[in-house]
Amino acid sequence: MNIIDPKIEQYAIEKSTTPTLCGEVEEHTRATQRLHHMMVGKLEASVLGMLIKSMKAKRVLEFGTFTGYSALAMAEFLPEDGEIITVDMNKETTELARSFWDKTPVAGKIKALNGSGAEVLESLANEKFDLIFVDADKRGYMNYFIKGLEMLNDGGAVVIDNVLWSGKVVEGFIADQEEDRQTAHIKEFNDYVASRADLFKTYLPIRDGIYVVLKNA
Ligand SMILES: C[S@@+](CC[C@H](N)C(=O)[O-])C[C@H]1O[C@@H](n2cnc3c(N)ncnc32)[C@H](O)[C@@H]1O
Repeated sequence: MNIIDPKIEQYAIEKSTTPTLCGEVEEHTRATQRLHHMMVGKLEASVLGMLIKSMKAKRVLEFGTFTGYSALAMAEFLPEDGEIITVDMNKETTELARSFWDKTPVAGKIKALNGSGAEVLESLANEKFDLIFVDADKRGYMNYFIKGLEMLNDGGAVVIDNVLWSGKVVEGFIADQEEDRQTAHIKEFNDYVASRADLFKTYLPIRDGIYVVLKNA
């Protein structure tokens, strides 16, 4: 469901800086993938770009590559010596993503890892990042968040996608809503982040809800 009226969203997109390299991946994904709505889209990509530019981020870690839209958008917004490591358990979509990235001048900034997010998170535990974007595995949100915070440079951010869960986290927003397990997980996660008085956080009702959380801001 649309949280923002599509006309308003389109207007906001037209007035924002958005990625220029994602046309092909977006078109192809829309035409061939049933779950094409999983792509972050132009407005969320612009928010990620705003964060990358304003914090002068160089290293990004992403959970949830899918067909490569958000990784490509972030690579475009990173500086020449920037790097994004993106993780997904689906080899097929990662290969598709690589085929789009390879046609762009920013392909060298993107490293894709295949595997379970939780395992890759463990394997990268000693590395540092400026931005960690979590867009996979809703049940694992708490784990990615807590461990991700430890892997952030000071002033870095964790960004978590889909925290509105189509608005289901707000009681009565959707008629006759029956709370499912996923909704309960996301509500619990949102409550936990909100309770962390030591962190600066902004809950943006853009697309499906984006939680932006800064470390030691
Ligand atoms: C919402 S999509 C990511 C969309 C992507 N960020 C974009 O903008 O196109 C979520 C992806 O997470 C992957 N995924 C789900 N659970 C996972 C897990 N436990 N570990 C790694 N990847 C996972 C899925 O295969 C899927 O491609």
